[in-house]
Amino acid sequence: MGANKKVYLVDESGERMCGLDVIEGTEGPPVIDIQKLYKETGYFTYDPGFTSTASCVSALTYIDGENGILRHGGYAIEELAEQSTFLEVSYLLLKGELPTLEEKRDFEDMVLQHTMLHDQLQNFFRGFRRDAHPMSLLIGATGALSSFYHDSINVNDERSREISTYRVLAKMPTIAAMAFKYTKGEPFTYPDNGLGYVENFQKMCFGLPVEEYKFIPESVKALEQIFILHADHEQNASTSTVRTAGSSEANPFGCVAAGISSLWGPAHGGANEAVLKMLDEIGTSSRIKEYIEKAKDKDDNFRLMGFGHRVYKNYDPRASILKGTCKEVLGALGKDKEDLFVLAQELERIALEDEYFVDRKLFPNVDFYSGIILKAMGYPTSMFTVLFAVARCVGWIAQWNEMMRDSDRRISRPRQLYTGERLRSFVSIEERK
Ligand code: ACO
Repeated sequence: MGANKKVYLVDESGERMCGLDVIEGTEGPPVIDIQKLYKETGYFTYDPGFTSTASCVSALTYIDGENGILRHGGYAIEELAEQSTFLEVSYLLLKGELPTLEEKRDFEDMVLQHTMLHDQLQNFFRGFRRDAHPMSLLIGATGALSSFYHDSINVNDERSREISTYRVLAKMPTIAAMAFKYTKGEPFTYPDNGLGYVENFQKMCFGLPVEEYKFIPESVKALEQIFILHADHEQNASTSTVRTAGSSEANPFGCVAAGISSLWGPAHGGANEAVLKMLDEIGTSSRIKEYIEKAKDKDDNFRLMGFGHRVYKNYDPRASILKGTCKEVLGALGKDKEDLFVLAQELERIALEDEYFVDRKLFPNVDFYSGIILKAMGYPTSMFTVLFAVARCVGWIAQWNEMMRDSDRRISRPRQLYTGERLRSFVSIEERK
């Protein structure tokens, strides 16, 4: 990272107001460092939704949205999805390199040996209504970890941060599976430390105390891939939420709970659930055109869920991979003629031929096909965003660690353009109109 260029801000008479450093990263657009802009000119910048603003320096994930490229630690997502495992990618995000055989073994041991929750947390679950959305249980239980594991919440101590990191990574699948079991009215299944990360999660979700759980290898492979594809995605809304919460030195469990809350929104991770609801509502190919028209109608709030992305102005590479996985896993489960998959592909074909979507560069995003796979595996729609959260936890905690190590870290405190009333005198209630 270096600054060897400047850009200059001039007023309308051409007079120079200030010079700003241009900083180059390793890839992607350079940034203009505006930290001294207000001090030197009296101006703030205005960028709602951060469309042109880099909020931090990060070395974890690189996205080139124009060309549909996603890389973690320099490795293409296609190669990671095909050849790696979720825990290997987690190691890469946390440590910056893929692990050696020995490092991989130690890391897996650390994560897989810490999957159990404090037993008292079960009581916490029982306070929720059975018909609550599992995302609300996930938010509550994750936030509550700070009261069970307060020995590791000294955020300025590196060892504490490391312990919290392992705890988040190891315990999140257990919490998610418990949320699922609780809302189903089934007994909790304890983790099995002899199993891999994904197998363990599948068993905790679908295992029953009265029978032996039988793994479907194609399902395990597909879920491993879904976890890899969702592990991190640079400064998206939920990750930025985690960083913002953490910038005040809040405890990591609370920060992750804040990230989960942000992820739940239908414009973000909640879209995978919304895609299935939309496909169910459309029901048949003959109604696709009607829904495409609704999505284009500016007087209608409806949007084509699973389409469009702030960064990708091309096919989301994760969606291409998942489309292939969808075909494979549905074939293996004997569900390849499943109406929803046929409908989704037809919807994609029609949308991608439509001028509205072409002009705006709206392509399927990661959420478009993931829900169909998860449904075929037996997960109800309410669990889709929960699974996204389990996978994204590593991205959140890796980004939080990166921020905590950053010597330039400051509390996140954006400015605003005030458009309210100027100073006026208080009016007593009798005189108000
Ligand atoms: N359906 C119809 N029109 C759309 C869609 C859509 N899915 N997405 C964007 N547009 C249109 C907008 O109406 C706008 O049109 P205009 O220029 O005529 O006003 C234009 O495309 C640009 O859209 P913005 O909302 O400005 O794009 P933004 O970057 O702010 O939003 C977002 C991105 C939120 C993902 C949006 O595309 C969307 O709502 N998609 C549907 C929800 C979804 O699938 N979310 C998952 C995202 S991936 C993830 O979070 C894991």
